[in-house]
Amino acid sequence: MGRRLLVTGGAGFIGSNFVHHVVEHTDDEVIVLDKLTYAGNRASLAGLPEQRVELVVGDIADAALVDDLFGRVDAVVHYAAESHNDNSLNDPRPFLDTNIVGTYTLLEAARRHGTRFHHISTDEVYGDLELDDPARFTESTPYNPSSPYSSTKAGSDLLVRAWVRSFGVQATISNCSNNYGPYQHVEKFIPRQITNVIRDIRPKLYGKGENVRDWIHADDHSSAVLTILDKGEIGQTYLIGADGEKDNKTVVELILTLMGQPADAYDHVTDRAGHDLRYAIDSTKLRTELGWQPHYRDFEAGLAATIDWYRAHEDWWAPAKDGVEAFYATKGQ
Ligand code: NAD
Ligand code: DAU
Repeated sequence: MGRRLLVTGGAGFIGSNFVHHVVEHTDDEVIVLDKLTYAGNRASLAGLPEQRVELVVGDIADAALVDDLFGRVDAVVHYAAESHNDNSLNDPRPFLDTNIVGTYTLLEAARRHGTRFHHISTDEVYGDLELDDPARFTESTPYNPSSPYSSTKAGSDLLVRAWVRSFGVQATISNCSNNYGPYQHVEKFIPRQITNVIRDIRPKLYGKGENVRDWIHADDHSSAVLTILDKGEIGQTYLIGADGEKDNKTVVELILTLMGQPADAYDHVTDRAGHDLRYAIDSTKLRTELGWQPHYRDFEAGLAATIDWYRAHEDWWAPAKDGVEAFYATKGQ
């Protein structure tokens, strides 16, 4: 008999990948708490066994609902967030409500119930690195977030640390680099460009495309989170990454090539305000202390499989595509 897990944001990109991973690799049962914002999608949980996965539609900032759900589970994995930098530049308010107040609401419930709590966060809390800097982020890199999104994630991490220290909440934190894989919303870089090519729209590269992201497959993120849930030390932070640094220009050219198009068939568009230059993760602590290893080491193969997924699941992404492109068009992107 496995555990009962509460997974917040489990109808989003990485949360739904985690729920699929848990069903496949453990005996655990899952309750998903998800508000089904524009980024949440019931269809991302389709096909999972009903006796093991229950979807509760609701807000992580709803204290009564959260309290009730914490009473039904052994552990909580907290993915729910407003997650897109471009949206946070347009309207920061929902980022404060969900990422800060929502996380506070969950921490208060964890404190009342004594529930094991794992907080999902991002490498963006550390700000960015220069392109020619050999350094990578470690668990001791100072926080220096750039955007409303990353600053609210940084704030939520600090709340978790304070609730561990002041109230003895049984929490761990992980900060992961950029994920790719199935079920990612078409507003994000890789799915946007894949679905653009499918729709005969030229891919859109912000600025010169020199910015570097450290790509990891969402399934490797899931295996790392399960490892931390099982073996992580309370109060500790673990960085998750798979040595996947690539500049955006290289990624867009690879997508075009894999999809049978000329590698230069894309447009340079208006850059993102405050655009972070480079992220890079040193995941030595997670690998040496907890024994985790990534499975997807070949980015090109993982990207090709992701392209196949988007080709086969147009019904999943098509409803959001036109609205996303209309939003970007208002910003010259
Ligand atoms: P996403 O936007 O695809 O999904 C977020 C989910 O949270 C959606 O299902 C949405 O409906 C739900 N949600 C939003 N507000 C809610 C609320 N108030 N109450 C309940 N549910 C709510 O995001 P994602 O890319 O899957 O990111 C998930 C988590 O992982 C976030 O915490 C993000 O900061 C973190 N993260 C993401 C990446 C990445 O590359 N995408 C990398 C590192 C960390
Ligand atoms: O590093 C982890 C973070 O990765 C997560 O915390 C965020 O939730 C997640 O959204 C992601 O943030 P980024 O801002 O790095 O991801 P995004 O997919 O928006 O953009 C990736 C890079 O591609 C970034 O340098 C901006 C660029 N870009 C993006 C879009 C949408 C383009 O060049 N063109 C585009 O159309």
